[in-house]
Amino acid sequence: MPDKAHYGLLKGKKGIVFGPLDESSIGWQIALHAYREGAEVAISNIATALRFGNIQELAESCGNAPVIMCDASKDEDVDKAFKELSEKLGSVDFIVHSIGMSQNIRKQVPYEELNYEWFMKTLNVSGISLHRLVSFALKNDVLNDGGSILALSYIASQRNYWTYSDMGDAKSLLESIVRSYGPRLAKRGIRINTISQSPTYTKAGSGIPGFEKMHEYSDLMSPLGNASAEECAEYAVTLLSDLTRKVTMQNLFHDGGYSSMGATIPMIRLADEALHDEELAARVGLEDFSPSK
Ligand SMILES: NC(=O)c1ccc[n+]([C@@H]2O[C@H](COP(=O)([O-])OP(=O)(O)OC[C@H]3O[C@@H](n4cnc5c(N)ncnc54)[C@H](O)[C@@H]3O)[C@@H](O)[C@H]2O)c1
Repeated sequence: MPDKAHYGLLKGKKGIVFGPLDESSIGWQIALHAYREGAEVAISNIATALRFGNIQELAESCGNAPVIMCDASKDEDVDKAFKELSEKLGSVDFIVHSIGMSQNIRKQVPYEELNYEWFMKTLNVSGISLHRLVSFALKNDVLNDGGSILALSYIASQRNYWTYSDMGDAKSLLESIVRSYGPRLAKRGIRINTISQSPTYTKAGSGIPGFEKMHEYSDLMSPLGNASAEECAEYAVTLLSDLTRKVTMQNLFHDGGYSSMGATIPMIRLADEALHDEELAARVGLEDFSPSK
C-alpha cells in the first residue's frame, strides 16, 4: 500500500503482535500497519509457524523487527517471551493478540461430540492465552502506563454460528476476559478491547467448514460489505493510538454493519423462493432447521 496516507499515529510507540503467519493473517497486517504508522514492533508466533511461515519477510518489512518464539498456551513460554521482549525492545505501549486455533474444527468433529482434550486446547490457545499474555506482561513489568491491549474476536461469541463450533465458546471467554481485566488495568490508564471482525480469508478462517459460503453470505448481509484484513489493521491502529484513550472493555464490531442487520429484501425473496421450491428446499436442508412444532 505505498500510496496510502500515513498519519504517524503510533510515532514513538512500541508494541508486540502475537499471531502473524503469512500475508493473509490479520496479525501480519496489524504489525505492518503499526510499523507504517511509526511504531517499533516485535512479532511473535509458535515455533512451527516461525519455521514454516514467512515471518522473516514481515520482520524485514517492519524495520528488522525482533521475532520472538512463544506458544501462548504455555506459562513458561509467555514468561520467557516477555523477558526477551524487554531485552530486545524494552517495555511496550501495545500488545496485540491475534491467535486462534481449534483442533475440533480442523478435524470437523460435530459440536455434540467434541473431543474434550481438544476443546480445552481451543479454550487455552484462543481464549485463556489473552489472560496469560496480560498477566505475564504485568509480572515482567513490560507494559507502559496508558497502553492498549487488543484481541480479535468474531460474532459467534454472542450468536450461534453452527460451524464455528467450540471457537464460539473460546471467543465468549476471550471477550469476558477483556471485561474482567478492564477495571484492573484502568488505574494505569491501560485499556483492553476486542475487534469483532468480518469473515476473512486467512489460514485459520478458511479452515472453518463452509467458510466460502459464510463469507459470501456475510458480504451480502453487510451494508458496507465484508471488511478485509488490511481494513481491520487500519481500524486496529486507531485503537493502539492515543486517539482512543477512553475506549476500554469493548467488543468493537468491524464488519461493514453486519452485526446490526436483521434482513435484506433480496435475502427474504431468496428464502421465499426456497420455501416454494421443494427441490431447492431439500437441497439446502431447510427441513433440518424448520421450527419444531
Ligand atoms: N479469519 C477470520 O475470518 C476471522 C474473523 C474474526 C476473527 N478472527 C480472529 O483473528 C485472529 C487471527 O486469525 P487469522 O484469521 O489472522 O488466522 P491466522 O491463521 O493467520 O492466525 C492465527 C495465528 O494463531 C497462531 N497460533 C496458533 N496456536 C498458537 C499458540 N499456541 N500460541 C501462539 N500462537 C498460536 C497461528 O500460528 C497463527 O499465526 C484469531 O483470533 C481469529 O480467531 C479471524
